[in-house]
Amino acid sequence: MFVPFLDLKTQYNQIKDEIGSELAEVLDTCYYVLGPKVISFEDRFAEIAGTKYCIAVSSGTAAVHIMIWASDLQPGSGIIVPPNTFTASAEGIVLAGHVPVFVDVDKDTLNLSPDKVRSFLESCSSAGRPVDPKTNAQVRGILAVDLYGQPAALSELEKISERYGLLLFEDACQSVDALRDGRPAGSFGTAAAFSFYPGKNLGAFGEGGAVTTNSEDIAGRVRTLRDHGSREKYLYDYIGHNYRMSAFQGAVLGVKSRYISQWNDKRREAAERYNELLSGLPVELPVEDGDVRHVYHLYAIHTPDREDLREFLSLRDVASGLHYPIPLHTQKAYSYLGHEAGDFPVSEWNSSCNLTLPMFPDITEDQQVIVAETVRSYFSKKG
Ligand SMILES: Cc1ncc(COP(=O)(O)O)c(C=O)c1O
Repeated sequence: MFVPFLDLKTQYNQIKDEIGSELAEVLDTCYYVLGPKVISFEDRFAEIAGTKYCIAVSSGTAAVHIMIWASDLQPGSGIIVPPNTFTASAEGIVLAGHVPVFVDVDKDTLNLSPDKVRSFLESCSSAGRPVDPKTNAQVRGILAVDLYGQPAALSELEKISERYGLLLFEDACQSVDALRDGRPAGSFGTAAAFSFYPGKNLGAFGEGGAVTTNSEDIAGRVRTLRDHGSREKYLYDYIGHNYRMSAFQGAVLGVKSRYISQWNDKRREAAERYNELLSGLPVELPVEDGDVRHVYHLYAIHTPDREDLREFLSLRDVASGLHYPIPLHTQKAYSYLGHEAGDFPVSEWNSSCNLTLPMFPDITEDQQVIVAETVRSYFSKKG
């Protein structure tokens, strides 16, 4: 039996009728961009993220970019970000006119390490003002990424940000409905960005994203910037962008957001089952960090044998993924920052050893047993 990495069809079949009638309403009203379906999704999503405001945009990349752009930092500011993330995290910083300042992650959680952030800031501050020694950029923000669905150490990063007068942004693109210290992903710091790319926990039927914030100012600017800097038709306060969400995606997300919490519960159950099935094998399993609800957008194991293991799985019809195989600081696009291999050892270890296993809410026990047994047989053959 082929075990897919992700199965969107089974989920779609469960909600097909609800989705159909919502999409039919969009077609009947001919309100294709923003409009009532997007507004009602925004209201619902603000509840999920525990914030006053949610502004829907056209993708997670747009969300990262626009939340930083809207926060009005001085151009060329340094923003701390981990190197083991999808490029859009650092890309959003650059698109907003700023400088990614890479700091390494924690070995267990693979999220920004508060200790490393603290020592970096201490090492490059004079009179409490940190300056990135690589680029000379004044450090004014932190963009924490909730990798694989586990919120970063956001409460601690909030304290560090306060101490150094930094803005804390959250890339919550992988962590819809997750919790850290009892608070929802999306509710920390200045603002958070979400992605509703189809493969995400809350996936649209195309591209989609959102910014959540408690700041009325930032919410207002994001709303304006996503629509050409315009508050009123043909009146432009700023040079903006077209980052509007399609009404079809708002309609789909409105339906799917009713189920997200139970789908994430099922992901958590599947993760627990993998932990049991894989125990005793020479692989590192995901570590939950203190008081968190990890929502397992991805279930990542680590092994130095991952290339061979991946091929072994693939030859036996078990799909797997790599998230992410090359850390950002060694990518050509970021070479101008002047880093080299060896600068961020934990991120580099993660990139060389991670393997993500099939994970979706409807994964069956039988499918998980096949995955685990195939991993087990790889290691017993290897001896
Ligand atoms: C951590 C992270 N940031 C940003 C993004 C960008 O989201 P999108 O693909 O919706 O543009 C993604 C999604 O791939 C992501 O995983």
